[in-house]
Amino acid sequence: MSFTAQELELMNRQLPVWVEASKVRSAYGKTASYIPELAKAPQHALGIHMIDTSGQAVSAGDCGLAFTMQSISKVFTLILALMDNGEEAVFQKVGMEPTGDNFNSMLKLELVRPGIPFNPLINAGAIAISSLIHGRNSAEKSSRILAFFQSLASNDTLTYDMDVYKSESDTANLNRSMAYLLKDNGVLEGQVEDVLDVYFRHCSVQVTCSDLARMALVLANNGTDPVTGVSLIPRRYVQIAKTFMITCGMYNASGEFAIQVGLPAKSGVSGGILTMVPGRLGIGVIGPALNSKGNSIAGVHLLETLSRELDWSLF
Ligand code: DON
Repeated sequence: MSFTAQELELMNRQLPVWVEASKVRSAYGKTASYIPELAKAPQHALGIHMIDTSGQAVSAGDCGLAFTMQSISKVFTLILALMDNGEEAVFQKVGMEPTGDNFNSMLKLELVRPGIPFNPLINAGAIAISSLIHGRNSAEKSSRILAFFQSLASNDTLTYDMDVYKSESDTANLNRSMAYLLKDNGVLEGQVEDVLDVYFRHCSVQVTCSDLARMALVLANNGTDPVTGVSLIPRRYVQIAKTFMITCGMYNASGEFAIQVGLPAKSGVSGGILTMVPGRLGIGVIGPALNSKGNSIAGVHLLETLSRELDWSLF
């Protein structure tokens, strides 16, 4: 369904005002610094791009800013792993439950048997998913992932930010230790360093809000790009991905986000958020300053405002 004339009028009038009101929140957050390259992002930026099923787009703020997908990429590697292996094989390696822990925690990998990650959107789960992507070697797996992202974004120029990739790969002691633990638990296939390379690469794919919005639109439309009419993902896998986005997409703030915004969403530590109004809109947001849970502080505030003003909650 397209934007209504009323919504468009409201957006044109109010969206820049709402963006400015949310932008001030960025003063209370911090850019991620555990991946040193991410700390260079503009702390006070905030941008949004929305696209409806007829291809009509609305944007505001710093929507031209380029940033890396980080954890947002995990939604799409999960989908590709499901397409490559089917549901049964994937859910032998990762669970379906939220953790209530930080995204990079490995606490439960040791505490709760059989030692598989609780879900595919925490770091441990996404690393396990990387090892399930088909390909003869890590380069082929990575190029299949990139090509999939390009088709979903309808943008064949999408590529890696190599500075961020290198920065993460050079400093990822925690993810490395987690991956070795997963290998020992029998969760990872293949060489640990190869699996990690696939993971770091998909986290470092560079996008703008319009790329995220277009990818989200495919999910909003149950796997078919409504603009081109091309079917890219089986509906069942979109359903699984959207359910994880509701229960785990904003990490241990997913419950609060479901109450305040009420839409499937996925955040990344670069400050990006991908969300959607199912059946209607794909939405991409960037605001690099993060709150204590690792979600964009201004981005979450802006989505809370939009959901309230436009009555977007699914619940
Ligand atoms: O593995 C990491 O820590 C990052 N590449 C991705 C983490 C992330 O985006 C968590 N999001 N809020």
